[in-house]
Amino acid sequence: MIKRGKKVTVIGAGNVGATVAYILAMNGACHHVVLRDRDIETAKGKALDMSQAANAARMHTIVSVAEEPEDIADSDIIVITAGSPRLPGMSRDDLLMINAEITKEVVADIKVHAPDAIIVMVSNPLDVMTYVAFKESGFPRERVIGMAGILDSARMAHFIHEKIGYGAGQIRASVMGGHGDDMVPLPKFSTVAGVPLSDILTAEEIAEVVERTKHGGAEIVGYLKTGSAYYAPAKSTSMMVEAILKDTKLIYPCAVYLDGEYGYSDVVTGVPIVLGAGGAEKIFKLTLNEDQEARFAKSVASVTKMIQVLKNKNFFKGE
Ligand code: LAC
Repeated sequence: MIKRGKKVTVIGAGNVGATVAYILAMNGACHHVVLRDRDIETAKGKALDMSQAANAARMHTIVSVAEEPEDIADSDIIVITAGSPRLPGMSRDDLLMINAEITKEVVADIKVHAPDAIIVMVSNPLDVMTYVAFKESGFPRERVIGMAGILDSARMAHFIHEKIGYGAGQIRASVMGGHGDDMVPLPKFSTVAGVPLSDILTAEEIAEVVERTKHGGAEIVGYLKTGSAYYAPAKSTSMMVEAILKDTKLIYPCAVYLDGEYGYSDVVTGVPIVLGAGGAEKIFKLTLNEDQEARFAKSVASVTKMIQVLKNKNFFKGE
């Protein structure tokens, strides 16, 4: 197919992937959304449905299916959502091996057919899958970015709103570290329209928000039972895609490969970055206090531990 305008491929047409594709099609964020899934029939059905929705919305975006790996060629961005979903009782870490193998396969195709694309990783365990994509692609780290910080911050913002009942849309919550139970919500860097959280909530209330944020994904799994959240994960992903396509250079917390920042190397974790046409164009080094530093270290350690599991299993054969 002749390339027309910006092309975004979404790998994995499950709830998260399909919702990302749907948001992009409805926003007119790009000209062409491509869905790729092992289940080609399902991908075709969803693509057809979304194409019709785009026409209903009088939107120019077309949605099609990549039946062959080469159909992802010329993608500006490739969003990876493929993987086994997180089921009730399953930790994100349980998904490690199964999803690492899937990521490896997907990235091998990207390397061959879309070597200039920016990879936005969404599959869990998020930070480790971003690390796998970085290592297996050989892409510069600017072009391999994990989604999760936007999601976790949005969850925290929502939980703050539930406590105060005002300021919806004006709450700026901040979360760093890995997308796991050791993530690092940062109430000291969180405000409601500039008013510090500590001037609005008690220490106990803030602690409750922090705890609930850490388990925000599991809370939804508990309700849905057969799967995990997808509206907020998909919206968070589409925000990243749009920032890259439009080169907005907005600052978001995203998972990137650290190379000495914060004193860590050879690991991926969530930190504030500038997102633009070049991908992760700048990484910010926040000055953390002792408590924040310790929590960040713990979160990084849990990601490192999972990476080590893969290394011990000789997953990265080139090394
Ligand atoms: C979540 C899981 C899927 O945060 O990681 O919703």
